[in-house]
Amino acid sequence: MVSKDLLNVVLELLKLKSEYLYRHCLEVGDIACLIGRNIGLDSQKCVILKQSGYLHDLGKLGISDMILMKPGGLTEKEMEQIRLHPYLTVKTLKNVVNGNLEKTFCEDLFKTILYHHEDSTGNGYYRKTSREIPLLAKILRIADVFSAVYELKLQNLSKRKSEVLRKAFLEAKWLYNWLVSDTERLRIPANKVSMVKVKAGDIFEQRELNILGSQIKQEIADRLKDNLRVLGKLKKNGCTVGALKYKKFVNSIPLQQYGVTYSLEFAQNRVRIQRLGKFRVLGLHQIPTDAEIANAVLVRKPSGYYLHVTCYLPKNSHISLNTVGKDIGIDFGVSRKLTLSNGIKIDFEVHETPRLKRLQRKLAKTQKGSRNRERILFFLRKEYEKLNNRRKDAQNRILAFLKIYRRVAFQDDWVKGWSGLFGRQVHSSGIGGLKSRLRTSLETPVAVERMETTTRMFCLWEKARSLPVGQGN
Ligand SMILES: [Fe+2]
Ligand SMILES: [Fe+2]
Repeated sequence: MVSKDLLNVVLELLKLKSEYLYRHCLEVGDIACLIGRNIGLDSQKCVILKQSGYLHDLGKLGISDMILMKPGGLTEKEMEQIRLHPYLTVKTLKNVVNGNLEKTFCEDLFKTILYHHEDSTGNGYYRKTSREIPLLAKILRIADVFSAVYELKLQNLSKRKSEVLRKAFLEAKWLYNWLVSDTERLRIPANKVSMVKVKAGDIFEQRELNILGSQIKQEIADRLKDNLRVLGKLKKNGCTVGALKYKKFVNSIPLQQYGVTYSLEFAQNRVRIQRLGKFRVLGLHQIPTDAEIANAVLVRKPSGYYLHVTCYLPKNSHISLNTVGKDIGIDFGVSRKLTLSNGIKIDFEVHETPRLKRLQRKLAKTQKGSRNRERILFFLRKEYEKLNNRRKDAQNRILAFLKIYRRVAFQDDWVKGWSGLFGRQVHSSGIGGLKSRLRTSLETPVAVERMETTTRMFCLWEKARSLPVGQGN
């Protein structure tokens, strides 16, 4: 075990560098240890997790503040410096603690710290695969970061570029359906597939895949393999699963490897996608400097093409500090959507638009397979997208408002069950979505059994701690 004195010295040094870094390391150590204990690791491993958390970013002391605190994107050289920090930490520790500690403890501690930026998709600093990353390092990573998805819109598409994108999605569909029709084909390396058979009417035709990059083709096949694996597991557990079907549309293309299948050019506001070329994007400024960019998905929506980029952000750097410091309870209801324990009532129903209803009526009158039906379906999808955006916007506003409270308790109601009783009123309200987002977006959500009265009990939060509610924190 690393001595308490040494840990204290390190933490004090981190505090000198930055208050944030100090708090981050403390929190990561505590969370990692908690995860370890919860999944039943022995006490030695829990100690390693705690101590590696406290020490994991020590190497950042060796990186200049100019890089650590630089606003805007980092250059490749600066990124290289940042990538050095796990190595610098281990190097420093080897000089200080090696020899005084048990050999296996040291090895585990060093490996956990060295690989705390590894990703199972192979996107980490050392590009290690899932099998090569030790379990403790995986846990430390979970404690270290949280993932956020940023949506970037592809802008100013010329006719040629729109055509390239359209063709890419078409080829992705051909490849997907070709693989689904005979899953034995998944044994062939998909990156080498350049011709596929496509059903056109009653006959099969050969089609060339010349827009999709080799890596992207492989990633489409890998995603399908993953889906099959999950379905297999579900079946084993006794769930009823259907066969994978052919797709009429493929609306998302995975781009797993940052730097290979896609890369972001912050200075030029551009994204480069393997073989498809460079595209102007809107929204790059949302990605914070300290974000670690991981995989992305190219998405086609009725309103255009988007890139959904997953990033890992250091924990606790984005907690809002202006909380009012009180706890609050929420009651969900059908007529009045949310009632807070302090009396505030929030109603946020987002109704279906008259245009949507009109289009649905029109669709019912069209014939299957007709051109008119396709056209109406396209408008309908566009209208649904708009409605979903509006619903998400409403949820965002509520979540942003709730963030001022220190702790938020809400009932774990079975909202899906309500729609049977109250029909459309619940279906179009977006309560279900709000509830699942409450769980994931807030820093300290507390889900309470559905029969508990959160609004009344929460006034007595301090007393409620000894009740089941308290165990949630
Ligand atoms: Fe780190
Ligand atoms: Fe960290």
